[in-house]
Amino acid sequence: MEVVICDSHASQARLAADAVERLVRDRATQDRDVVLGLATGSSPLAVYDELARRHTEEGLSLAHARAFLLDEYVGLPADHPERYRAVIDRELVRRVDLDPAAVHGPDGAAEDLTAACADYEAAIAAAGGVDLQLLGIGTDGHVAFNEPGSSLGSRTRLKTLTSQTRQDNARFFGGRPEAVPPHVLTQGLGTILEARHLVLLAQGTAKGEAVRELVEGAVSARWPATVLQHHPHLTVLLDEDAAGRLELADHYREAWATKPAWQGL
Ligand code: GLP
Repeated sequence: MEVVICDSHASQARLAADAVERLVRDRATQDRDVVLGLATGSSPLAVYDELARRHTEEGLSLAHARAFLLDEYVGLPADHPERYRAVIDRELVRRVDLDPAAVHGPDGAAEDLTAACADYEAAIAAAGGVDLQLLGIGTDGHVAFNEPGSSLGSRTRLKTLTSQTRQDNARFFGGRPEAVPPHVLTQGLGTILEARHLVLLAQGTAKGEAVRELVEGAVSARWPATVLQHHPHLTVLLDEDAAGRLELADHYREAWATKPAWQGL
């Protein structure tokens, strides 16, 4: 795992965008599509802003990218603005040249949710798996919507949100936790672990405890994000506040400061 403590949100977003851009450019030379894993929530928004800026100002093209979302609420009407598919369209897809038909998410409106989950797993596999997965982290240590108690090897399935998560997400639903759907479809932890590079972003003191567990805690279903410690290529991009409870923060700073520039993330 590589932990980078960033001095600004702009530099955090630039590092994540650099990883995406490097991958896109590498794949272009090989004439192969890129498969991106996209996260919703506030954490990756500045990355999407930066990708949109590079598209407009520097010609970065996502025309040969495909994308898979991590999760989706169950039961929101098709035109609801907080469906994650609608959010990602707004925050990224419409601002770049990503083909909307190449962007997929779990179908939270399906009649047969179990079949929708199996179909989603099959679609990711058929695309050859995810090359780079952007992630946030919940204050309770969830990744995607894998809440505490999630099986560490889980696959895409139906989950129930904790009251903490409904509280945290109430800001997207008029400040009303009860308006946040209680059920979701989410990629499992086992699914996420199969992505080839994981880039997790966290900002703010509210994430400090979850980040400490993620980076320095024992692997446990109590803090689902800790399973990411098993991943061979995990990059954790933090602001100073999110990093505030890390015991070995000085070591991470030194390792980053002395890293050869050519290595990238
Ligand atoms: C959300 C999402 C996650 C996200 C997390 C943190 O509810 N399902 O994918 O990473 O919770 O959200 P935020 O980035 O808004 O803090």
